[in-house]
Amino acid sequence: MALRRVRIYGDPVLREQAEPVIEIDKEIEEIAADMIETLYANDGVGLAANQVGFTKQIFVVNPHEDDQKGAMVFLNPVIRMPKETSVMEEGCLSIPDIRADVKRAKEFDFEAMDLDGNKISFHAEGLLARIILHESDHLRGVLFVDYLSPVRKLMLKDQLKELEKRSHIVRERFLQSALG
Ligand code: NI
Repeated sequence: MALRRVRIYGDPVLREQAEPVIEIDKEIEEIAADMIETLYANDGVGLAANQVGFTKQIFVVNPHEDDQKGAMVFLNPVIRMPKETSVMEEGCLSIPDIRADVKRAKEFDFEAMDLDGNKISFHAEGLLARIILHESDHLRGVLFVDYLSPVRKLMLKDQLKELEKRSHIVRERFLQSALG
């Protein structure tokens, strides 16, 4: 297992559509294990594959931040029958230092596949539902800041620009080191 580099706002991979997982091979198992490790290392509650530069429909969630054993892996998520809405403050490992209230569905029926290829389905609500919606968004290139009001977006404009710059610099450096 290894830590993966978490992509920062401005990295184009965060805007890409992830593809469904057709076959659970060694690469998928490895990336899932690495994502869990990366999630724990960053004290996050959720991490989607795009955030580590891998555009397959995989995300990991760990609603109990303090418990570093409880992470779950979901492949090919589907959200059905979203009901009601609630407002909750969100953050994102790809958008450090920014938190904001986001309105989302409060509950829904969730379907996905686990790492053994078993179909999973349950009714999601509360914090787990919130994380699932946030991570499912990542897999279609959507970020929580996309939901903010124009006024709030304007207030965060400089901070987001800074992140874009930082993301660009890190990417350049990474490319250079990869080229040797
Ligand atoms: Ni996120």
